Amino acid sequence: MNPLNSATVESAVELSASDEPEKQPETQAQESEPDRLLFKKSPRTCQLTGVRIRAIGAYVPLRVVTNGELEAQYGFEAGWIKKRTGILERRYAAEEEGTSDLAVKAARRMLAKSDVDPSDIDLVLVATFTPDFTCPSTACLVQEKLGLDAPAMDLQAACSGFMYALATGAQFVATGNSKLALVIGADVNSRIVQPDDQGTAPLFGDAAGAVLLERGTTEQGLVRYQLGADGAGGSLLDRPVGGTLRPLTPELVADGQHYLKMDGRNVFKWAIQVVTETIEQVLMQADVGVADVKLFVLHQANIRIIDHAMKVLQIPSEKVFNNLDRIGNTSAASIPVAMDEAFEQGRIEPGDLVLMCGFGAGLTWGTGLFRW
Ligand code: UT7
Repeated sequence: MNPLNSATVESAVELSASDEPEKQPETQAQESEPDRLLFKKSPRTCQLTGVRIRAIGAYVPLRVVTNGELEAQYGFEAGWIKKRTGILERRYAAEEEGTSDLAVKAARRMLAKSDVDPSDIDLVLVATFTPDFTCPSTACLVQEKLGLDAPAMDLQAACSGFMYALATGAQFVATGNSKLALVIGADVNSRIVQPDDQGTAPLFGDAAGAVLLERGTTEQGLVRYQLGADGAGGSLLDRPVGGTLRPLTPELVADGQHYLKMDGRNVFKWAIQVVTETIEQVLMQADVGVADVKLFVLHQANIRIIDHAMKVLQIPSEKVFNNLDRIGNTSAASIPVAMDEAFEQGRIEPGDLVLMCGFGAGLTWGTGLFRW
């Protein structure tokens, strides 16, 4: 069978001019910080069906780090973390574990739950913004550790990384250029946060989630999705040094410039717009109502962002899966780890529609309605 026959690849949906986001005059945007921070909505969504998730698995490191532990160690305000984020504890990788180790453990757990022969895997994609090394890619380390015969590459879209990798893997599968694609989201955030920074460190944790993609029916796959980027907001969430533009120096490291920096309050305001507006748009363009969606799996950044979206979009709480209280924000691992838990609990079954929404540094976002 010609793989393209049953894979539906539909181009962008046209919207009327009245749906176009309003353009701010350049001078006004420069003068007005709040305007620049507003979510720049895109009218485009895409469809990519004919792809299914054959198996899913996840790994969270063993070491539990509670809010109490961080409050005692770094003098964080008692109760602030829980009150402002909903996070109670997170997991930290062991000293000898890197991102590739977590990724491999997630993949092995997934393989153990399936009847897949690893030698059939013909593509490895790893979404991460905390690679083991700048070079080689974490995906190559995973490919080697799993003994796979497959091309391998990393994708960097921070907390939207899994959505970007899912859509990329799905394109390979839909075109027939991959029969079995291993797509992993993995991050070891504990190594890049400034330990005593209350505004970032307690929010993040370490984890990995993995899926295997293969050909499905024309109904399965990304019924409608949007990947987006707004580099103008890049400095809201970044690691300012350590790349080619500003290489590490002992002075910069001593000053903590290599750590993750986040303007949390402005990222928060941007995020609540991204989440509500892209979910609404994807559902609308898919002609699907909230009632038709079995489960909403949002990036686990802050319970108040999720609660806000539920309220605005009138999503009942039983349709939302959260685990951030137990593992915090695990960046690219966030969505696949949550989906794995939901799947294990029987909250996702073949044929169900699941709405996933990732957002984060770049700025980037990825919102997709996936039929299992
Ligand atoms: O994973 C990558 C993405 N990262 C995130 O999404 C993290 C986003 N940031 C946060 O989670 C939180 O900002 C922190 C936990 C880092 C800090 O929390 P906070 O200091 O308690 O600030 P906040 O989140 O309550 O407030 C952020 C802003 C505030 O605006 P101003 O006063 O700074 O101008 C709030 O008034 O967001 C405002 N805000 C809202 N705006 C519109 C709070 N709730 C809403 C709302 N609608 N529902």
